[in-house]
Amino acid sequence: YIVKLDASDISKGTYDTFMLKEIDEQPAVMRKISSNYFDGKKINVDQKMLEDVASADRLYIVAAGTSYHAALVGKDIFENLADVPVDVELASEFGYHMPKLSKKPFFIFLSQSGETADSRQVLVKVNELGYHSLTMTNVANSTLSREATYTMELLAGPEIAVASTKAYTANIAVEAVLAKAVGEFKGVKAAKELDLQEQLALAANAIQTIVDEKDKFKDIADDYLTGKKDAFYIGRGIDYALSLEAALKLKEISYIHSEGFAAGELKHGTISLIEKDTPVFAYINDGIGAAHTRGNIQEVVARGAHVLVISNKKYAEKGDQVVVPEIDEMISPIVSVVPAQLIAYYASLARGNNVDQPRNLAKSVTVE
Ligand code: G6P
Repeated sequence: YIVKLDASDISKGTYDTFMLKEIDEQPAVMRKISSNYFDGKKINVDQKMLEDVASADRLYIVAAGTSYHAALVGKDIFENLADVPVDVELASEFGYHMPKLSKKPFFIFLSQSGETADSRQVLVKVNELGYHSLTMTNVANSTLSREATYTMELLAGPEIAVASTKAYTANIAVEAVLAKAVGEFKGVKAAKELDLQEQLALAANAIQTIVDEKDKFKDIADDYLTGKKDAFYIGRGIDYALSLEAALKLKEISYIHSEGFAAGELKHGTISLIEKDTPVFAYINDGIGAAHTRGNIQEVVARGAHVLVISNKKYAEKGDQVVVPEIDEMISPIVSVVPAQLIAYYASLARGNNVDQPRNLAKSVTVE
């Protein structure tokens, strides 16, 4: 059952919650990004922006919340495909504690809503300093979109649930589009070799296979999280960035205290929190980190943790409970985040929480 994406659709349709609808829309969003940003093999982006980004000696990606986590994934993508160093900055910190900037910085703002006050105050400063910037946003004509030099749209369609899902995956895809375009412009081999259209098609199909198996994630949520106060997501490299988003999803709607950790860092303190049946979700999509993460899993298992491994086909081992289809590692969180979105969703539902409007949170935060 494939969900069609209609950008003007802000009704729940046959769904009980916006969040589940938005999770299901992700394959359609991937296809839309691919068909809108590609014209045959040509990438449709502002040529002037390409030149601007290509001439920067460093990119500063500024964001908050889930968009910040998409920025962490973007660092890898831009460094690989566009061959440029990248700093990722929390908007609420960067604005008031600006580090020494490089000689030719270029700023990229990631904001689903385009209205986040913390991000805007950085943009105002960037404009005062006379630097050029790009806003990637899901809302055309939003404040951050109007005030930046350039805009790229996420094309995810309205996102209503407070917990961001399709905007995160769309953001990673759009970062990849720009990074590939800049890399091709600069003649970077990795950019020329990556068939991003094929990857986005693979991503769409992979997400579809995951969302077609919803019951499995409901069972996992029941099995691992019923009555639990704490949970951990761990991973290395790209899976570390992903773990931060996975943990945020879980905590914001289930109210279970959850943390994302670099798998190798657990033993430097946090492992003291592991006791019998503490849920630990371990990601294995990062080739370089895979073997070491397996070791870290053994360490927490030895202390009684209840471990669920989420791996991809390439690195799966016998006994892994969730195995997702493989796509290019750099953009793999587009696929691997979906199990975490569904686990969070079902954990929240089981607790009788308001999934779409969790307590204390707002969809867009317009105060600093
Ligand atoms: C709020 C939302 C988060 C979101 C963050 C940044 O806190 O609850 O889901 O990630 O703002 O929002 P933005 O619109 O700038 O991406």
